[in-house]
Amino acid sequence: MEIIVTGGAGFIGANFLNRLVPELPEHRFINLDKLTYAANLASLRAIDSLPNYALRRVDITDMDGVDAVFEEFDPDLVVHFAAESHVDRSILGPREFVRTNIEGTFNLLEASRKRWSNDDNRLFHHVSTDEVYGSLGETGLFEETTAYDPSSPYSASKAASDHIVRAYHRTYGLPIKITNCSNNYGPMQFPEKLIPLMILNAAERKPLPIYGQGLNVRDWLYVEDHCEAIWAVIQKGQVGRTYNIGGNNEMQNIEVVDTLCQVVAEETGSDVAELLSLKKFVTDRPGHDLRYAIDATRIREECGWEPKETFDTGIRKTVKWYLSNEDWVRDVRSGEYRKWMDLNYGDRTR
Ligand code: NAD
Ligand code: DAU
Repeated sequence: MEIIVTGGAGFIGANFLNRLVPELPEHRFINLDKLTYAANLASLRAIDSLPNYALRRVDITDMDGVDAVFEEFDPDLVVHFAAESHVDRSILGPREFVRTNIEGTFNLLEASRKRWSNDDNRLFHHVSTDEVYGSLGETGLFEETTAYDPSSPYSASKAASDHIVRAYHRTYGLPIKITNCSNNYGPMQFPEKLIPLMILNAAERKPLPIYGQGLNVRDWLYVEDHCEAIWAVIQKGQVGRTYNIGGNNEMQNIEVVDTLCQVVAEETGSDVAELLSLKKFVTDRPGHDLRYAIDATRIREECGWEPKETFDTGIRKTVKWYLSNEDWVRDVRSGEYRKWMDLNYGDRTR
């Protein structure tokens, strides 16, 4: 099989490729990636010389570029990860989110539709987020039937992309599946996201910026569990259907940060009280969703998937990974990264 993986140099895409490329030598994996700030080719070192892996540097908003890759490889399967993925960036600069997440997804659907003509042996798998459902109150869970109610430009752009993917199935019969997943954490995540940011800041005794009161709740899923879930849906899920993916790990942000301080202290032999004293409550994120939580009954019953990692085991592995991969960390903390830290956190005092 020829498999195009978009965004394969990003956090989840790289974990997906690192897992599957060596395991499935009979399939060829083509990583179609623009290589934005969020990409890191160092994440792909273990597989980049394998014969069943190829990289094409293409922007998915460039229809001709996308067409050229589809012509070259005639994919049986597209696994679409590529996106602008960071909520805070979407608040400060929404245009790229609309372009990449909506127009880019549209281009990939067009490239597939032109060539596949309702061939049920092909599949367009769209990787999406639980943020499309908006915010929960103190109780309740997101189900696949929950109405879309996105809050940020990021989640609105992902919601739009989900709708257009579903429309291509209903209108043109394009074989698609969609997964909506909760917050991922694990190795190779760009340190703008909460967990790697806090690990690295704690290790370097920098402030730990917590939005609002730190009471917002996220459901944390180890990235390898997410990759397995996607593969399970690709193999066992029904065409045209949506599957929610979650980790059964609901935690308030403040609990996450406290746990990270504890684990970093243990792994580095530091004083936990010193790390906890770095916590700093800063101006809240505008439109900050209070709580996300997933009902993952459908994927469990139809695809036999359940997460393997608990938060305790997954977070320990993640902390150890960041502490022992200093080169990877140094590579991603370019001038661009420093600019982002100034832009997002510079003014965020109460
Ligand atoms: P990421 O930001 O780490 O990586 C995104 C990748 O997409 C990068 O390699 C980047 O170069 C590439 N990309 C961006 N714009 C592109 C363009 N115009 N053309 C081609 N490539 C482009 O993202 P991630 O955290 O790995 O997320 C991957 C997908 O999973 C996204 O669609 C995201 O919405 C979804 N998702 C993420 C999470 C999470 O917690 N990270 C949870 C649920 C769903
Ligand atoms: O729910 C899935 C989504 O999870 C994905 O679709 C997104 O791509 C991914 O970025 C993530 O979105 P969040 O906004 O939930 O993740 P983030 O790591 O940015 O923030 C997690 C929580 O921590 C959120 O409530 C905001 C808070 N936060 C974040 C940062 C970066 C802080 O309190 N301080 C911070 O510095």
